[in-house]
Amino acid sequence: MKDKVIAICPGSFDPVTYGHLDIITRASKMFYKVIVVVAGNVTKNCSFTPEERVEMIEKCVSELSNVSVEHYEGLLADYAASVGATAIIKGLRAMSDFEYEFQMALTNKKLNPNVETLFLTTAAENMYLSSSMVKQIAFMGGDISSFVPEVIRQDIINRIRK
Ligand code: PNS
Repeated sequence: MKDKVIAICPGSFDPVTYGHLDIITRASKMFYKVIVVVAGNVTKNCSFTPEERVEMIEKCVSELSNVSVEHYEGLLADYAASVGATAIIKGLRAMSDFEYEFQMALTNKKLNPNVETLFLTTAAENMYLSSSMVKQIAFMGGDISSFVPEVIRQDIINRIRK
């Protein structure tokens, strides 16, 4: 791999979970710089504002010195070009993720041929973890401690049970 590759980790992060943080942490060990991009997803109605999502991720990645967090509303392919990123890192869980992720990877490649999408296999314990499950559990008063770091747990509970 070339030196000083900038990678982006995009997602809705509504909210960030241990699954996302595992991917971000592993990417931070592989790349010179990693930018976590809180991006718009037209198919989703998010529960947290982009600012809240950025803030929660920042709290969780404060110890990763080469990781920063940004919010961007346009096309990811354009964002990658604007910051000189040549890699998009995504986590893959079950086969159900595959078709959607494949479609996005091919579209991004078409829009920005300089960017490669790389998939990291999710850790086995995060296989069935998703932001929407975390929100459901929090809404029903369940324990979300195995899914999100302590530092953002109360933020999530406060918002979801409001
Ligand atoms: O966590 P998600 O919701 O699966 O992430 C999807 C996301 C935000 C990465 C995707 O919707 C995206 O890239 N949005 C930015 C707009 C864009 O570039 N859309 C075309 C992607 S092919």
